[in-house]
Amino acid sequence: NEGKLWGGRFAGGPSPELEALSRSTHFDWRLGLYDIAGSHAHAKALGAAGLLTAADEAEIHRGLDVLAQRFTDGSLQPAEFDEDVHGALERLLLEEVGAEIGGRLRAGRSRNDQIATLFRCYLLDHAETIAGQVLDLVDALTGQARSHLGAIMPGRTHLQHAQPVLLSHHLLAHAWPLLRDVDRLKDWRQRVIASSPYGSGALAGQTLGLDPELVAAELGFTGSIANSIDGTAARDFVAEFAFVCAQIGVDVSRIAEEVILWSTKEFDFAKLHDSWSTGSSIMPQKKNPDISELARGKAGRLIGNLSGLLATLKALPLAYNRDLQEDKEPVFDSVDTLEVLLPAFTGQVATLTFNTARMAELAPQGFSLATDIAEWLVKQGTPFRIAHEVAGECVQVCEAQDKELADLTDEEFAAINPALTPAVREVLTVEGSVASRDGRGGTAPVRVAEQLDEVAAVVSGH
Ligand code: ARG
Repeated sequence: NEGKLWGGRFAGGPSPELEALSRSTHFDWRLGLYDIAGSHAHAKALGAAGLLTAADEAEIHRGLDVLAQRFTDGSLQPAEFDEDVHGALERLLLEEVGAEIGGRLRAGRSRNDQIATLFRCYLLDHAETIAGQVLDLVDALTGQARSHLGAIMPGRTHLQHAQPVLLSHHLLAHAWPLLRDVDRLKDWRQRVIASSPYGSGALAGQTLGLDPELVAAELGFTGSIANSIDGTAARDFVAEFAFVCAQIGVDVSRIAEEVILWSTKEFDFAKLHDSWSTGSSIMPQKKNPDISELARGKAGRLIGNLSGLLATLKALPLAYNRDLQEDKEPVFDSVDTLEVLLPAFTGQVATLTFNTARMAELAPQGFSLATDIAEWLVKQGTPFRIAHEVAGECVQVCEAQDKELADLTDEEFAAINPALTPAVREVLTVEGSVASRDGRGGTAPVRVAEQLDEVAAVVSGH
């Protein structure tokens, strides 16, 4: 049992098959620097409790610094026989400072409270990276919204023409959910940072008089966890993080789907920049929205990571179970996925060219101003139920003659209903329609301009 953290009670070493199954260094090695930071903090707690002399503690800090240096330059690697990052780093520390001093460090801690703490530290850092990347995407969306204020597009429900809206209003409708995702990461952070599990030991706490608050403060937490079983067994912080990642993926996929549609010949609403689109190996003319397609695909993967993790956690009895080792790969994958996807997606959005003339041409088509006729009638005193019928009849007449609402003659309007005087034409332009939706949250240019400022205020608050 050379180099193992356990072995005293075993007559023989583990079988190679068990070792192969048990090993986690190929994915948990990325926690190395967090493990070392935890060890520094734990050494301080041992020193403060009188369990390490000042000289031994200094030697341990020195040894850990050497390991961190070698970890960073890539020369520190786990061995084939190392079970996990914790065991490997303890073995390497012993090599550096000797078994006598290095062997004192494990007192009062368990891999169970170590991993619960390190995983929090890792996710706290990456939550910040991801939040920054999401804000960059929000920036790209608001940049496009700002430079196209006034452009009108067909707003859709059920993917059918519904009512004209400002392109900027539509783009900002993608920005708000992303801002809520950043907010979710912030909320999550408040909870996670308040409860460092170090000091929980294997599950029941420790007998050595170590101060968990000291370790918590060293590692940047605002407090230590109140219940040692909870500290070692809970993974809701991982699941919640995985949920926010999945939600970001879903939010991005909805933009992605529209970019894919908009860049088709049929829509022709937007053109992809050459540097942010791909070609075909056989069809010379192709320009493909691969970034958006990958975004759409990766949303499925992010959802899978969340549901796989929840399935691992379901009905797991307290406290630590080895099943919990399965919590890391899916969430590492979510982190890696988003950190590579978001910058590419942001670049694609920032460099889209919108065909605003095409959008403007289509905006009034498909009878998208029928609601405006009904609401105009309401303002003239007609009950909405009747106004809805009358506007519907206008659509029917147009459809029979294959023309748009604005093409109806004064006589045709009057024949449909006498309340439809020529003055109704004031609402039969998309500009008039959009401008009239001027309540808070509406698509009128004045409101959208305010909304841009509101987004900017939220962004600068993050
Ligand atoms: N590698 C484990 C994990 O990722 C931590 C070690 C706990 N192992 C144990 N036998 N108690 O969850």
